[in-house]
Amino acid sequence: MHFHPDRGHGRQLESEVTPRSLYASRRELLALGAASLLPNLAQAQGQGAKLAATKSSLAGALVMDKPTRYEDATRYNNFYEFGTDKSEPARNAHTLKTSPWSVVVEGECAKPGRFDLEALLKLSPMEERLYRLRCVEGWSMVIPWIGYSLAELIKKVEPNSRAKFVEFTTLADKAQMPELSNGALDWPYVEGLRMDEALHPLTLLAFGMYGEVLPKQNGAPLRLVVPWKYGFKSAKSIVKIRLVEKQPNSSWTKAAQREYGFYSNVNPQVDHPRWSQASERRIGEDGLFAKKRPTLMFNGYEAQVGQLYAGMDLRKNY
Ligand code: MTE
Repeated sequence: MHFHPDRGHGRQLESEVTPRSLYASRRELLALGAASLLPNLAQAQGQGAKLAATKSSLAGALVMDKPTRYEDATRYNNFYEFGTDKSEPARNAHTLKTSPWSVVVEGECAKPGRFDLEALLKLSPMEERLYRLRCVEGWSMVIPWIGYSLAELIKKVEPNSRAKFVEFTTLADKAQMPELSNGALDWPYVEGLRMDEALHPLTLLAFGMYGEVLPKQNGAPLRLVVPWKYGFKSAKSIVKIRLVEKQPNSSWTKAAQREYGFYSNVNPQVDHPRWSQASERRIGEDGLFAKKRPTLMFNGYEAQVGQLYAGMDLRKNY
C-alpha cells in the first residue's frame, strides 16, 4: 500500500479498536467452506492494513446491537459500479485503484481545494463508531466503522452563506469499473445532504471498518456513512464534494423519483411504493426461524437527529 493509515495518530492505541477477530474467526469461515477464497481476496485488494482509532464518545455512535460478521459485511454489498448482484462487488472490486487518491472539495466556500488521501487521513483523529446501516431494500447491518465526522472536512474549506447543500460524487472510471456500462444508474453516482445534515456529528467520513482500512467493495478508500438514512445515501469511493445553493439531484432520485426521495430518512411509517418499510432483516440472522426486526424511526437515531426535521412533513419529504 502506498499510504500508511496508521501513521500520524500516535495518540491512539491500536488495541482500542475492536479487532476483526472478534467478529469472525477463521474456524467459522472454514465451517462455511469459504477459506479457499480468502488468500486471493486479501491479496488482490491489499486488504488488512490496520487503521488505528479510539472508541467514539459521541451519543449514538455505539449502538447496543451485536455487530454483523465481517464476512457478511464484506460479501453482501451494493456497489453497482462492480455489479448489481450482492456477491459481485466482493469478487469484482479488486480492479479499483485506491492509491493515489484525492478528493476535490469546492463550490460555495472560501478555501476550496484538493485533498489527497494522506492529508485526509491526518485531518482529524480517527474514531470507531458502531452504526446500524438500513438499506432501502429491507435489510440491515451493524458495522464498526472508522473515520471522523464529515463536519471536520467541511469546516476546513470555510463554507459561505450560499452553501445550503452538499453534493457527493463518486468515482466513475470504465477502466476500473467493468459494470459502468450496465445502465443501472446514471453515472457517476451522485448523492446529497442538506448542510445541517452534512454537519451533524453522526455523519461519518469513513476510511475503515473492523479495525482495518475499508475493503474495496465497501467503498475504499473513503465513503460516507449517514446512519439515520437509507444506505444509498452513504456514497462510496468519493472523489468530489461540492457545497451548493440548490438541492442536488441524486442518482437514485433521477432513476426513480417516486421511490427515492432526496431525504430518504429511515421511516417505518412511510412505505416504499413497492414494499413496506416497517421491518427489516438483519444480515446474518437470516435462518429459517429468524424473526424480522421492527424498523426504528430514523433507524434508531431519533434522539440525535429528530430535531433536524422539526415541522417538516416527512411523508412529502420522503
Ligand atoms: N455508492 C456507490 N458509489 N455505488 C453504489 O452502488 N450503493 C449504496 C451505498 N453507496 C452504492 C453506493 C447502497 S444502495 C447501499 S445499501 C450502501 O452503499 C451499501 O454499503 P455496504 O455494501 O457497505 O453495506
